[in-house]
Amino acid sequence: MIIAVDGPAASGKGTLAKRLATHYGLAYLDTGRTYRAVALALMEDGVALDDGEAAVRAAGAIDLGALEAPALATAEVGEGASQVAVLPELRTVLVARQQGFAREAARAGRGAVLDGRDIGTVVLPDASVKLFITAEVEERARRRALELTGSEAGPAYERLLAALRSRDARDCGRASSPLRPAADAHILDTTHLDADAAFWLATRVVDEALAA
Ligand code: CDP
Repeated sequence: MIIAVDGPAASGKGTLAKRLATHYGLAYLDTGRTYRAVALALMEDGVALDDGEAAVRAAGAIDLGALEAPALATAEVGEGASQVAVLPELRTVLVARQQGFAREAARAGRGAVLDGRDIGTVVLPDASVKLFITAEVEERARRRALELTGSEAGPAYERLLAALRSRDARDCGRASSPLRPAADAHILDTTHLDADAAFWLATRVVDEALAA
């Protein structure tokens, strides 16, 4: 069982993917963290984020089992991640490592959930189930503002809304593996759904695929 979960920033795909992994006993990889780890390595070394050679070197050194560091979670590193993510040579290396993670899980007799932007389209086109999680950008900004500041309006909301819009534009507009749903993905719009409702709907899709 391989589950691909894709979607734009702050759509709730990470929360959902983690919950699916726990529920079905699957290994879990947040592929956004691999791009974040490369961005952080370059930022710490003072290297430009468009340096493809340095990015490829950093990608080879990433430990896929140690992507929990809080330093990877900052908005600044997320912004850096979306900048390095346009580099095709970096994507080639990270995609191969992500595919290796899924293969390892399968070899260990376990399935996997991977979440990102291109899992269903590029990384694991043969996934058993593909989910594309989305929500209107205003709702995503509201959720992120609430999570970061405890308030869902005001200057933080406006800043986050602008940042999400520019990140969406970069993720959807890049030449290499732009963000888009796979033709066979189940689209889950969570604009009017809370996390529990989104999880329940996702398990229905997965259970149907398991039964087929
Ligand atoms: O958590 P959030 O949605 O803010 O971002 P993330 O999933 O950690 O991903 C950070 C950035 O990495 C995204 O904006 C994408 O540009 C890039 N990314 C990608 O290109 N392909 C993936 N499979 C995962 C992330």
